[in-house]
Amino acid sequence: MAALSPMQTLAVKPPQQYKLKELKGHSGCHVFLCERGNTRFVKKVSGAAGYAHRLEQQMLKQREFEHAWIRKPSVYEFGTENDLFYFTMEYVNGVQLSTFISRNTVRDVDPLIDQLLTFVRSNICEVAADFSTPISEKLWGISSTSGFQIDRYVQYCMAFDWRAIPTGYCHGDLSFENILVHKSNLYFIDFLDSFIETPYLDLSKLLMDILVLWSWRFENRRPIIKNTHIYDIVLSQLKSREVEIVRRFLVLNLLQILPYANAHHNSLFVQDALKHLAVKFNI
Ligand SMILES: Nc1ncnc2c1ncn2[C@@H]1O[C@H](COP(=O)(O)OP(=O)(O)OP(=O)(O)O)[C@@H](O)[C@H]1O
Ligand SMILES: [Mg+2]
Repeated sequence: MAALSPMQTLAVKPPQQYKLKELKGHSGCHVFLCERGNTRFVKKVSGAAGYAHRLEQQMLKQREFEHAWIRKPSVYEFGTENDLFYFTMEYVNGVQLSTFISRNTVRDVDPLIDQLLTFVRSNICEVAADFSTPISEKLWGISSTSGFQIDRYVQYCMAFDWRAIPTGYCHGDLSFENILVHKSNLYFIDFLDSFIETPYLDLSKLLMDILVLWSWRFENRRPIIKNTHIYDIVLSQLKSREVEIVRRFLVLNLLQILPYANAHHNSLFVQDALKHLAVKFNI
């Protein structure tokens, strides 16, 4: 058979790309599982044109992330489609860490928690920063629209000495929903540019799940006992000042969600979580 001329080669069409299904997400972005030929991949598309910059930052952060034992889906392509930014990435055929914890025993869960905590703690640097101004600005910007009283929680965060907080790398949104488990490996997804860079912010996002069961908010069955066990592991690794820092960040995380949660049915979940912490932390 004669070899193809360059013109004929160009005429060969790449396989068609199909969207198989929309993966569950809770933000404004759309996440699709797609297939082209025999290859599956994930496509994340910004929900509104205004979110393009954040999604691009997320993609860059994911692309740059390198670690000895924590993986991330490789980023393939990015661009703009119908004025919306998108990027495509490797499909990780695993489960969210929250699902993994629900389905497995502590014997399987503990090594993963250990890997996670070692990762976050190894990011803590000697260099400290004064976060008083960015924290105050965040707190001033928070308002409750549902009649729920937030003053005591704002005060709890405000009255803390934020002047010398250790800095370091931070994933930005390290909830169990954004950690996938595949063949006993952890994969990070959904990186976020955070307003301050400190591993304690990542620790506080982990506590959103461990203490408040955030990633199980839409489920009836929540693994409370397993998470109590995980909380004991976390506490055994933190000094008392570190515990105080992450507790404040945890309350701040919940306060930040409150205005958005009001519009959805998880508003009561956030309020209950804050009330629960008020008792637990003596706020
Ligand atoms: N590369 C991937 N492989 C397999 N599943 C994925 C992948 N990326 C996302 N998912 C699934 O889709 C869900 C939603 O994705 P993601 O966390 O990126 O979006 P989100 O939380 O809706 O968006 P946002 O960036 O606004 O927080 C994930 O929790 C995960 O279950
Ligand atoms: Mg997510």
